[in-house]
Amino acid sequence: MTEQSNHAIVYGASGLVGWSIVDQLLKQYPESGTFSKITAITNRPLDISRSYWPETDATGPKLELVSGVDLRHADGPTFAESLKDKLEDIASVTHVYYLVFTAIADDIEEVDTNLRMMRNVIHAHERFSPNLRFVAFPGGTRGYGIYVPGGTFTPPLQEDMVSNLPPDYAATVVYPAYRKLLNEASEGKSWTWCEVCPDAIIGFTPNGSQFSLALHWAQYLSLYAFNHGKGPNAPSAQDAIVKIPFPGNAAGANSLFTPASSQTIARFLVYASLNPDTCGQGNLFNIADHQKPCTYGELWPKLAEWFGLEGVGPADESESNLNTLKVGELPDSTASLPPGEYISSHKEIFLRHGCENAVTAGVGAGHRQLDSVGYWLTFDRQMSLEKIRKTGFEGDKDPVGAWIESFEMFRKAGLIL
Ligand SMILES: NC(=O)c1ccc[n+]([C@@H]2O[C@H](COP(=O)([O-])OP(=O)(O)OC[C@H]3O[C@@H](n4cnc5c(N)ncnc54)[C@H](OP(=O)(O)O)[C@@H]3O)[C@@H](O)[C@H]2O)c1
Repeated sequence: MTEQSNHAIVYGASGLVGWSIVDQLLKQYPESGTFSKITAITNRPLDISRSYWPETDATGPKLELVSGVDLRHADGPTFAESLKDKLEDIASVTHVYYLVFTAIADDIEEVDTNLRMMRNVIHAHERFSPNLRFVAFPGGTRGYGIYVPGGTFTPPLQEDMVSNLPPDYAATVVYPAYRKLLNEASEGKSWTWCEVCPDAIIGFTPNGSQFSLALHWAQYLSLYAFNHGKGPNAPSAQDAIVKIPFPGNAAGANSLFTPASSQTIARFLVYASLNPDTCGQGNLFNIADHQKPCTYGELWPKLAEWFGLEGVGPADESESNLNTLKVGELPDSTASLPPGEYISSHKEIFLRHGCENAVTAGVGAGHRQLDSVGYWLTFDRQMSLEKIRKTGFEGDKDPVGAWIESFEMFRKAGLIL
């Protein structure tokens, strides 16, 4: 390796942000030659021929894919030794991108398990990667208290608010524990770190993802279109307009938020890691595709249109549950079947039309939370992008673009019709 060439290791490379980081690095973001080696780590098996990452030639970075790395499997020195044995060259790693997350019903257990996994990774690189320069990871707006019905802070959400998170709530979120771990581990060392904070992340994964709203809604819209004579494979094509109501209530459709594409997040994590003086030292950056917040109500017609449908306002006018539902809760009754239940009822259509991947690699355990998005997130939660804009990172892009690019990739990967 030349002095300037870097070795990136991406933990959670099969996830929403992780897949995109590997994709961007293989496409040689930010410029050719910045990284000579990319090590992509996954837990579940990932077949490289079905990864949808670009192929590289001899001039591009070398990709090493290592699957079957369960970060909970062992701890401390035992984990570090086993990681070293699995990787071709842990010693040359310069940049760690940490995108692992496992959801557990008990919040405290979730914090403990996720913290333990990150600690294993950091300690292994501290021990075996003397050239380590940067560690980057995404937190999320859960860290601004959005899991409290009605939210915690008055938006726009600003980075310094996280230090005022009520302690009882903070104990249920892993991000403060990650910060403490990284602050302590990096003190006096030659590496530094940063965190980005996205709200909903819009992107593609070939293998499913627990909390991919884009995949969840795409599968719903795809099956709904098919059942109403729209889109590819539809049994009897219909010219008539088919309306599909927003899956939520009016407040869910009208509340302000700032979504981010996985690509924007991936690019910023790389950008930040190459600019440690301005972006390191444990800095937290809000991230989104556009400074101007949007609403799900505005987005819905544009998403439905891609499937040949007319997206209309919510069928549920009632706001009796306004700001009382907890994350993952739905009202006692909904005017139409929630997307996850609709998908479960009709998923054999995917199988009949060669989309086995759609059944084996959907959103899994996250579907209840994703179903509740339009009913639970009934309050404004937009973030300020002032801080990230000062770093010189790229500017606004149309937030609809990420959804459409994801839909195209889902179709290519057999995740929708
Ligand atoms: N999704 C969103 O909309 C959203 C919004 C805001 C913040 N966030 C935050 O962003 C971060 C990344 O989330 P994401 O949505 O990108 O997650 P994701 O798509 O579900 O990916 C999670 C990754 O973690 C890996 N993983 C899980 N358990 C593991 C284990 N025991 N050992 C090794 N790897 C393991 C998974 O690997 P396998 O696939 O191999 O199992 C997967 O690659 C999380 O902190 C999340 O809270 C997400």
